[in-house]
Amino acid sequence: MPLLEVKNLKVHYPIRGGILGRIQSYVKAVDDVSFSMDSGETLGLIGESGSGKSTTGKAILGLTHITDGQIFFDGKDITNSVKKNRSPYRKSVQMIFQDVYSSLNPRKRVLDIIAEPIRNFGEKMTKAEEEKAVDELLAIVGMSPSVKIKYPFEFSGGQRQRIGLARAIALKPKLIVADEPVSALDLSIQAQVLNYLVEIQEELNLAYLFVSHDLGVVKHMCKNLAIMHNARFVEYGSSDEIYNNPTHIYTRRLITAIPDIDPEKRAENAKRRSDVADEYAAQRSNYYAEDGKVYDLKQLNPDHYVAMP
Ligand SMILES: Nc1ncnc2c1ncn2[C@@H]1O[C@H](COP(=O)(O)OP(=O)(O)OP(=O)(O)O)[C@@H](O)[C@H]1O
Ligand SMILES: [Mg+2]
Repeated sequence: MPLLEVKNLKVHYPIRGGILGRIQSYVKAVDDVSFSMDSGETLGLIGESGSGKSTTGKAILGLTHITDGQIFFDGKDITNSVKKNRSPYRKSVQMIFQDVYSSLNPRKRVLDIIAEPIRNFGEKMTKAEEEKAVDELLAIVGMSPSVKIKYPFEFSGGQRQRIGLARAIALKPKLIVADEPVSALDLSIQAQVLNYLVEIQEELNLAYLFVSHDLGVVKHMCKNLAIMHNARFVEYGSSDEIYNNPTHIYTRRLITAIPDIDPEKRAENAKRRSDVADEYAAQRSNYYAEDGKVYDLKQLNPDHYVAMP
């Protein structure tokens, strides 16, 4: 049984207009998306800005409404209870946010930031027990107990993201939605935070829904990948399949956009990028319906699905 199963998820936002504020049309932020994840698995959700990645993550956490579809967790249909604060589901699923500079409350000390989920959802603890729990969480992300009394502005971006991570794992969740957790960080710090994410995952058998616009970042972490474009999946399957046999023109373009650090291959890659860009322009109409909509996914093999007519 999968840990998380999302079936035909749709999130449409109304656009209102006129003096009466009537609904005039809808923004389809997520339009019929299905996927599943096992315990301890990392699924990469990749796509350009505005493709619907964050909305998908938010829907799973009950942070936005769901227009249609179902969410199952541990085999239970939790579609209608994702928003209930006290449901056990809300302890099992946590989020880390992209913006490390605004996602931690600037007026709270690290102790209160990390202890907040425990106070809201966890078991009752004395002050001393709580401090001990926070110290343990800080140790997991490689920080000293002395940082408890400090405020977010006293930390660098990478340190803040580690504090966010300590808070996210405070309730021993089973799934973390990591929404671009390293994209605001310097390249050197990105690797460090990714290492912490992987270490903690192994220790707690965590599943990650790892949102990124950059296939390069997730290359080594994800068992499976979902490539999203215009609110739908254009390609979905195992990372091996998608890297070695990218089939949708959009995926092919994303893969050639990964920068290569090997200088000898640079010229070759630039050529490949320009070939794929030409191919994208020439063949776009074969991969999208007339109104620009992404086709439904078709199965190529048990580990690989592609949106095709
Ligand atoms: N609350 C909202 N009301 C109206 N439209 C919204 C709302 N939230 C998101 N959208 C729209 O839905 C679409 C998908 O947004 P979303 O934030 O999920 O994209 P994203 O893939 O996370 O992009 P980014 O990489 O920039 O974070 C966008 O067109 C966005 O403008
Ligand atoms: Mg986003």
